[in-house]
Amino acid sequence: METGFWRFEDLTEMIKTNTIYTENCLETLRRMEDEFLHMTITSPPYDDLREYNGYHFPVEEIAAGLFAKTRTGGVVIWVVGDRTVNGDETLTSFRHAFAFKDAGFRVHDTMIYAKNNPIPSDCGKRYRQCFEYMFCFSKGQPETFNPITQPIKQEKAFKSFRITKVGRNDLAHDHLAPKERKVNNIFSYNVGTSSSRDKIAFEHPAIFPEQLAEDQISTWTNEGDLVYDCFMGSGTTAKAAHRLGRRWIGSEISADYVRIANERLRPYLSSREEAAV
Ligand SMILES: C[S@@+](CC[C@H](N)C(=O)[O-])C[C@H]1O[C@@H](n2cnc3c(N)ncnc32)[C@H](O)[C@@H]1O
Repeated sequence: METGFWRFEDLTEMIKTNTIYTENCLETLRRMEDEFLHMTITSPPYDDLREYNGYHFPVEEIAAGLFAKTRTGGVVIWVVGDRTVNGDETLTSFRHAFAFKDAGFRVHDTMIYAKNNPIPSDCGKRYRQCFEYMFCFSKGQPETFNPITQPIKQEKAFKSFRITKVGRNDLAHDHLAPKERKVNNIFSYNVGTSSSRDKIAFEHPAIFPEQLAEDQISTWTNEGDLVYDCFMGSGTTAKAAHRLGRRWIGSEISADYVRIANERLRPYLSSREEAAV
């Protein structure tokens, strides 16, 4: 019997939370119930930037799988960049974005992950490459949004009151002026060794910063929600989700990377929890 994207018999094997599955993410997705995940945050392999044992990367199938398994109101944060080949950018990131749109997701926001300390490289007649995209794809309107905010300097708050010409009395009620605002959608992080304190994580060649994962997970989910990473790598998403009191699931095709993630997570998980299957 067919249930849309997945066959009924595939759903018989239950999925455990707080577990990394050593397998192709398509297999893990196949075993999930529909509308299961509050959020996915991940960075896919792209443009053969790194060798992942020659694995073929079917983005359309993965996008369709994620759409089926994401709850209405859930989001996918897809962190991806482009390679420059013979002076020409691949725009793989845009291809991925269109694949997610075709699968049914909305492009809720195109955020930027800016690198404070990008790896020095000779970029010829172009500026130094220092960012990746963080696409926020959503299934309908996002249900949860806990924005990161920053304080507004008091003088600025007063200025905006003058512009609205609300009168002297209102100026006296400065507590009415907003004290903070949402941050911009460009998030900056240190990369390399300052992006995690876990030395073992750097045995993986392409980790994203822990703070990036924490910022995104705390924005789009609440405590107890379920977060998935279909390309778990060194376990950054699992660690961030765990620290924030979210449940999590990961897929990672390389047993060696699962070993790294497992070792990295061990000090953070309780003895009852098992990180890898
Ligand atoms: C860019 S890395 C992710 C790194 C991760 N964000 C971290 O902080 O450690 C991509 C990972 O996807 C894994 N991978 C590639 N294809 C996969 C697939 N189909 N299913 C599961 N994992 C896959 C690779 O082995 C690699 O570890």
